[in-house]
Amino acid sequence: MTQKVAVLGTGKIGEALLSGMIRGGWSPSDLLVTARRPERAAQLREKYGVETVSNAEAAKAADTLILTVKPQDMGTLLDELAPHVPADRLVISGAAGIPTSYFEERLAADTAVVRVMPNTPALVDEGMSVISAGTHATDEHLAHAEEIFGRVGKTLRVPESQQDACTALSGSGPAYFYFLVEAMTDAGILLGLPRDKAHDLIVQAAIGAAVMLRDSGEHPVKLRENVTSPAGTTINAIRELENHGVRAALIAALEAARDRSRELASGNG
Ligand SMILES: NC(=O)c1ccc[n+]([C@@H]2O[C@H](COP(=O)([O-])OP(=O)(O)OC[C@H]3O[C@@H](n4cnc5c(N)ncnc54)[C@H](OP(=O)(O)O)[C@@H]3O)[C@@H](O)[C@H]2O)c1
Repeated sequence: MTQKVAVLGTGKIGEALLSGMIRGGWSPSDLLVTARRPERAAQLREKYGVETVSNAEAAKAADTLILTVKPQDMGTLLDELAPHVPADRLVISGAAGIPTSYFEERLAADTAVVRVMPNTPALVDEGMSVISAGTHATDEHLAHAEEIFGRVGKTLRVPESQQDACTALSGSGPAYFYFLVEAMTDAGILLGLPRDKAHDLIVQAAIGAAVMLRDSGEHPVKLRENVTSPAGTTINAIRELENHGVRAALIAALEAARDRSRELASGNG
């Protein structure tokens, strides 16, 4: 599909997508953006050479509308958009926790809606975008969403019923790793290292481990066993992690995140 794509509500995630699309070869003349504040619109025009328009104009002119406002602003945006969106448009929502039915109820009958849950590493092209089809979205619509979100990282298609679980793993996922780095840096300080050196050591260990996990093709258990020698240092650390129930804590933590995502999705936020 060669199409005009509009990003509506171009904040952090919207700008990451916009810049990813342009870096990936999308012509700025095929892109439209909207912003709530005129100074933000001017900034986007200057930085990316894209046309900034009103939400209603974007709805009329673009074939694909990507909605990247905060979930609490989605109702207002849809009220503004709904009278102007012809039913042949593809509407992609990047808002956490809002089901496709929410859009389908407010837009023209049979409008194709795709729900995407990105995460913040999209800002450095290492995002994970989890993609689900609404009732009227076809394979072609999903492929188009993948083409766009694939510019800022990986994509994964799941049935919408799995979106809450994916939000717990991938949407919130980076925060768990930041938390681990923070705790392990504190440990480094306890062991007598300066904070900046402790930080660098742990961040590089995280990057190294992540690349090994992605590229070696090995199971995480095998990778861990490779650095766990008999009566060595690592097994002493692992025993403490198990004694403190870290594995069980992680399982409970992700379950809690999944439950909260469900609550938000059902409008009981
Ligand atoms: N950041 C994350 O970690 C993350 C991860 C996954 C998914 N998401 C989802 O991505 C979406 C965007 O998040 P974000 O962090 O990028 O938020 P953000 O930086 O606040 O971006 C949202 C933008 O939308 C603008 N806006 C609000 N209402 C508007 C309207 N009616 N018309 C035009 N523009 C409007 C806001 O304008 P102002 O600048 O005036 O407020 C803001 O610039 C959210 O729905 C979130 O659930 C975010």
